[in-house]
Amino acid sequence: MIVLKTKDLKKVYQQGSEVEVHALQGVDIEIEQGEFVAIVGTSGSGKTTLLNMIGGLDYSSKGSVTILDTDIETLKDKELTIFRRRNIGFVFQNYNLISTLNVYENIVLPLQLDGKQIDVEFVDNIIDTLKLKEKIHTVPLNLSGGQQQRVAIARALVNKPAIILADEPTGNLDSKTSMEVIELLKMSAAKYQQTIIVVTHSEEIAQLCDRIIRIEDGLVG
Ligand SMILES: Nc1ncnc2c1ncn2[C@@H]1O[C@H](COP(=O)(O)OP(=O)(O)O)[C@@H](O)[C@H]1O
Ligand SMILES: [Mg+2]
Repeated sequence: MIVLKTKDLKKVYQQGSEVEVHALQGVDIEIEQGEFVAIVGTSGSGKTTLLNMIGGLDYSSKGSVTILDTDIETLKDKELTIFRRRNIGFVFQNYNLISTLNVYENIVLPLQLDGKQIDVEFVDNIIDTLKLKEKIHTVPLNLSGGQQQRVAIARALVNKPAIILADEPTGNLDSKTSMEVIELLKMSAAKYQQTIIVVTHSEEIAQLCDRIIRIEDGLVG
């Protein structure tokens, strides 16, 4: 089953009144459920722009993004917010955890925001998979970077979203911890049939993924 499809996706940024930046120049990609994919490219190649379009964080200039059966750019602001919450999980370079909540509370937050019952068994399973059992009462300040990123991954998984988008998820981690985090993402993709897209400039990280999509000057090769 195809969970994500972009068609002739373009993004032009206006810089001042004169200069246009063509950040995406017609991107076509298709991703199947359960795939663990890397989008790799140098700095400025358009990775974050592409992720922002796929995640519905910004509108494209042309083309379409279809997630499951929904062309997300046809959604109104409020519908898009709800769609995003239910169908897209985000993992960022700087973890974006809520500092006043402990690990467990951070992980179940997406369920609570959506007014959903907590599936205790599934949440416990995720906590085990991400090796966070001993830390559930700890606040983010008292966690290492690698532990914080594991919490962010658990939080992204908890909703069973159509796609998890991870933008340079190991950007703040040392290389050993980076490999561990990527291995855990990979294991999660396999275990939960979870589609995961990792955006990275690192060839080493990309090589750990099941499929590599290369982007250069806003074009996918
Ligand atoms: N908000 C913006 N306004 C103007 N130009 C932007 C904006 N965001 C990104 N760009 C430009 O678009 C291109 C792609 O950027 P980006 O998607 O951030 O690349 P990457 O994530 O691969 O480093 C770059 O030339 C960048 O300078
Ligand atoms: Mg970027």
